[in-house]
Amino acid sequence: MQLRVRFSSPLRGEAVAPGDKSISHRALLLGAIAQGTSEVHGWLPAADCQATLKAVRALGATVEQHTPVNLVVHGCGLRGLRPPGTQAVLDCQGSGTTMRLLAGILAGYPSTSVLDGHAGLRRRPMERVAVPLRLMGAHVETTDGRPPIAVRGGMLRAIDYTLPVASAQVKSAILLAALYATGETIVHQPGPARDHTERMLRAQGVNIFQCDNSVHLISSEQPLAPLQIVVPADFSSAAFILVAGLLVPGSEILLRRVNVNPTRTGLLDVLQAMGARIQIGEVSEQGGEPVADLLVRPAEIEAGQVTGELVVRMIDEFPVFAVAATQAHGTTVVRDAQELRVKESDRIAAVATELRKMGARIEEQPDGFVVEGPTTLQGAHVDSHGDHRLAMALVVAGLIARGETVIHGSEVIGDSFPDFVPVMRQLGADIEQA
Ligand code: S3P
Repeated sequence: MQLRVRFSSPLRGEAVAPGDKSISHRALLLGAIAQGTSEVHGWLPAADCQATLKAVRALGATVEQHTPVNLVVHGCGLRGLRPPGTQAVLDCQGSGTTMRLLAGILAGYPSTSVLDGHAGLRRRPMERVAVPLRLMGAHVETTDGRPPIAVRGGMLRAIDYTLPVASAQVKSAILLAALYATGETIVHQPGPARDHTERMLRAQGVNIFQCDNSVHLISSEQPLAPLQIVVPADFSSAAFILVAGLLVPGSEILLRRVNVNPTRTGLLDVLQAMGARIQIGEVSEQGGEPVADLLVRPAEIEAGQVTGELVVRMIDEFPVFAVAATQAHGTTVVRDAQELRVKESDRIAAVATELRKMGARIEEQPDGFVVEGPTTLQGAHVDSHGDHRLAMALVVAGLIARGETVIHGSEVIGDSFPDFVPVMRQLGADIEQA
């Protein structure tokens, strides 16, 4: 599928970003191992979460889908799932979160489970979950470090483990396996990776707490309480609308009730430091997370620096941040972001390649990129590299480029934000499906 995007008239109005992807995965997985019936409202019906839905059903959980966004999950209890054994493969499609979190749960089961996915997922590193799960006593085989993987668990022991990278998926896999281990598991993280698993497990009655950047989970065989959750709007999806509102002249967009969990909002901090005027409304709580309205208008922005913990707090926002950086005055530098090379695409190489086609002055670095701005972008034929966030970032670039931008492979947007095009069109964006 191709999208044709043209220089946009002002984007104006209100928008609601779809349900948080990370929380939607977790609501299904944690609901499936809870004791009792969980209700999930505002779930994200995107391809990645559908992979988790299919997987928990294949593991024996009954999930009723009353509307695309309203689910009822009948929990099987901590040890009540029925892994299909080696006869059936659990297909995680393109979703790293599905594979890594499921590996943590399946490490608690004595039978062997095989997890696989499509070509994009088969390129992604899995030893990072295999190593700690083996230390806990599970047998985990990877295929040269990548999917497919086979997991056989059983009697697990608690571990004290330092994550080599600040990954919420790996942290979550360990914490989920820790539910099946005896004793206290401690996970030290090099930076503040998103903490949705911890918040949800705490709401389910698990003894889990955080000291500095270390998470402690003390297991007991006590059943997990079911969840009642209204999933907040995904900051990482809102980010595309936010940057569009910042860059398209004359815009004014109000984003309703966005998740502003501080482990996710690094982009807000860096854009504000660069001179953006984003108003954050009163913070309230939804689904155990802080939410607030965000109001964005265009502003002249200066170059920014992104390193260290800030990278962790905006790990999914670099494609669209690179677009913003092309409009900033001066040299924007991103460092310490080598993780971007193992996302849905090699986001350092792919973002630089595609934005250069539009005239951007962006140079790859081993662990980030450098952008000189401001540059008037030119419409071009660009490619998503099979990466939903790159596709949406290129749409935002197209909205401020001279002439027409054609984004090839844009169907991947459905992995996280199926209604992205209608939402943007409603705000006034000139986007057509070709
Ligand atoms: C996610 C964690 C992050 C993020 C991904 C979703 C999660 O990945 O990039 O989109 O839901 O836990 P890593 O754990 O690999 O950093």
